[in-house]
Amino acid sequence: MIDRSAVVDHWDAGASSFDDAPDHGLAAGPTRAAWARLPATWVPSAPDAAAACTPASAPDTAPAFAPADVLDVGCGTGSLALLLAAAGHRVTGVDLAPGMIERAARKAAAAGLSARFLLGGAAGPPTGGELFDVVLARHLLWTLPDPGAALREWVARLRPGGRLVLVEGRWRVSGQSGPPYAAGADSLPWSGGVGAGELAAAVRPLVARLRIEPLSTNADLWGGPVTDERYALIARV
Ligand SMILES: C[S@@+](CC[C@H](N)C(=O)[O-])C[C@H]1O[C@@H](n2cnc3c(N)ncnc32)[C@H](O)[C@@H]1O
Repeated sequence: MIDRSAVVDHWDAGASSFDDAPDHGLAAGPTRAAWARLPATWVPSAPDAAAACTPASAPDTAPAFAPADVLDVGCGTGSLALLLAAAGHRVTGVDLAPGMIERAARKAAAAGLSARFLLGGAAGPPTGGELFDVVLARHLLWTLPDPGAALREWVARLRPGGRLVLVEGRWRVSGQSGPPYAAGADSLPWSGGVGAGELAAAVRPLVARLRIEPLSTNADLWGGPVTDERYALIARV
């Protein structure tokens, strides 16, 4: 069993240097631009409700931009959350590590962006009965003791027609050791990451439809070429 306080300590200790990795801090222009392009396809800027309200008598009028309510679970230093806030969406980030949440809030303030960052667990985000248009998680599922329960919880937090966006990968196969992590990490079901096929099988019964977008070949996303499996799963409820 993984020790939750050891998980918090691990991420708190790494919070100050977390953004040094190219795909975390998104400091380099091409990396930032590559990530900034993705939300446009993952997050509806004109949800179905807004599109349905466009009068039939004005077919050439593009539906007005409608900000989405986005919940970023395990948001870390808020890099993706803030890209979405910059695109005009209403974003809530949740993370277990106070150091991560503090950095995310500082980055938002420095950029003059409005976003809400809350300390809490991803499997039961502290957002009460609020519903969201999008629940986003990047590189989080591997560290959850019960990822299936978290997936069910996230789907339950979506409005009808909402989207679950999971940016995931498989960085190590079982048996391979990785960088040191919290005690008990070997017991995690998806330690080392989860392949697209396995994640799709877990998500499919919970949603109306889903698609997988391979991301390994887009070196700009990662700050260089990668050889392991990386992808986004986008599901609609
Ligand atoms: C690999 S980082 C990814 C951060 C961010 N999603 C990103 O892509 O930049 C994993 C994050 O999940 C957080 N985390 C780990 N377990 C968590 C849990 N049970 N609930 C909430 N956050 C968690 C960590 O504190 C860390 O910030």
